[in-house]
Amino acid sequence: MAETESLASQIGSRLRGGEVIALSSDLGGGKTAFVRGLAQGMGSRDHVASPTFTISRQYHSNSKGLTLYHFDFYRLNQPGIIANELAEFIDDPQAVVAIEWGDIVADVLPEQKIMVVITRTGDESRDLSFRYPDVLNYLFA
Ligand SMILES: Nc1ncnc2c1ncn2[C@@H]1O[C@H](COP(=O)(O)OP(=O)(O)O)[C@@H](O)[C@H]1O
Ligand SMILES: [Mg+2]
Repeated sequence: MAETESLASQIGSRLRGGEVIALSSDLGGGKTAFVRGLAQGMGSRDHVASPTFTISRQYHSNSKGLTLYHFDFYRLNQPGIIANELAEFIDDPQAVVAIEWGDIVADVLPEQKIMVVITRTGDESRDLSFRYPDVLNYLFA
């Protein structure tokens, strides 16, 4: 868990705003833990928790003035107005959007997004893989 958060924090500290991050894993895979690390790395002190029952939460970055929007579409089968809200944040260069269970809003998500796939490899271990055109160059240039 600590390593997942720390990796996510290193990524969070390199975000510039305008990024969309789609997370997938099984339930309990570590998507929310990853978002907690992102928020930390972005310089936010806000408490990060699963937005499962509220659909979306937002955290403010104290270092860059960015806002991290955290969505969780678990079990939501009619995204409706929330998909519109999401689309608005996606176009905001001062926003970073992180999405759990984003399949239902896949058509709203841009092609240029960072996809993180987390696979459970043991009780405490996870495999993380990333997809983005040139993710390493983008984040670590
Ligand atoms: N290496 C790890 N990375 C992330 N979470 C881990 C790891 N090892 C154990 N865990 C546990 O797995 C759970 C992940 O929960 P959470 O982040 O809410 O998952 P999700 O949002 O994908 O449902 C937590 O209870 C956490 O303590
Ligand atoms: Mg979660």
